Amino acid sequence: MLSEVLLVSAPGKVILHGEHAVVHGKVALAVALNLRTFLRLQPHSSGKVDLSLPNIGIKRSWDVARLQLLDTSFLAPEALSPTCVCLFACETEQGDVTAPTPEQVEKLKEVAGLPDDCAVTKRLAVLTFLYLYLSIFRKQRWTKEDLELINKWAFQGERVIHGNPSGVDNAVSTWGGALRYQQGKIASLKRPPALQILLTNTRVPRSTKALVAGVRNRLLKFPEIVAPLLTSIDAISLECERVLGEMGEAPALEQYHVLEELIDMNQHHLNALGVGHASLDQLCQVTRAHGLHSKLTGAGGGGCGITLLKPGLEQPEVEATKQALTSCGFDCWETSVGAPGVSVHSATSLESRVRQALDGL
Ligand code: MEV
Repeated sequence: MLSEVLLVSAPGKVILHGEHAVVHGKVALAVALNLRTFLRLQPHSSGKVDLSLPNIGIKRSWDVARLQLLDTSFLAPEALSPTCVCLFACETEQGDVTAPTPEQVEKLKEVAGLPDDCAVTKRLAVLTFLYLYLSIFRKQRWTKEDLELINKWAFQGERVIHGNPSGVDNAVSTWGGALRYQQGKIASLKRPPALQILLTNTRVPRSTKALVAGVRNRLLKFPEIVAPLLTSIDAISLECERVLGEMGEAPALEQYHVLEELIDMNQHHLNALGVGHASLDQLCQVTRAHGLHSKLTGAGGGGCGITLLKPGLEQPEVEATKQALTSCGFDCWETSVGAPGVSVHSATSLESRVRQALDGL
């Protein structure tokens, strides 16, 4: 059991290029964002494990004794310590990292005890938490091997949520920085420029699982049409990697123009794959009116888009663009790419950050 409060964080991420194509073995370029999710793990002795996910309105509690009644074949008994939340990735007794079986998922649903009308996103978040909690016991280590293990467990969490993930999302949140990802092979981009972007959430909910399946169906239905699109997206990712590699510390405006062209071409391809959405078209039009270029990032069908901010752009222009996006009902953040991966923080450093954030409100 943890003896003290532990704070960990992992960065949000965006895919610059290669979403969907990466599921079919093509290259994806992904970057970690300076927007982080924090996790506070606090031991207590109530005999319960409490989970609080304030951003999505989850507050649940389970008796540890009840969890212990579950089939021990899928539990690491050491995991069952009464802890506020426990998502700290270490190995199981067998050292295995495994996906849940359909039977285990059914058991998790029973024990989760969620109401029938619980939204799918909330349900999946709780099931993923319970699966990881029951499969993992904690022991603090942060070596390369630990990160590999964290990455593997995060991948299993992804599998609970969307079935057939490529692995790029968990990889970039674990390792941070800027990554080239292809079929499980990860390479860090050397000295990528610290691009400034807008991350915009259209707030249109979508299912990554359904969108990934939709692209697969379109590929099966029109192989001669869709396969070249995936090949072209692969070439866009490679060209983007080449340009980022050449940009160095003093990028030229011309190089930003190339990045913008790549963004536009990829956005059209993603529309042709069927993962666009009216909200994303609107996002692209609004930013285009401010001379900026955007594309969807991730699964599409709503969700988030990224907008490249060029150097020399005046702050009032950035604010005007953000304001225009907010008036469409979108959430918008200005941030930079290339943040550190999963990290552990001291309680005091996090508390002072929270205080700073509150002071800024
Ligand atoms: C989702 O963020 C990215 C997709 O390519 C799915 C995946 O890679 O698992 C759409």
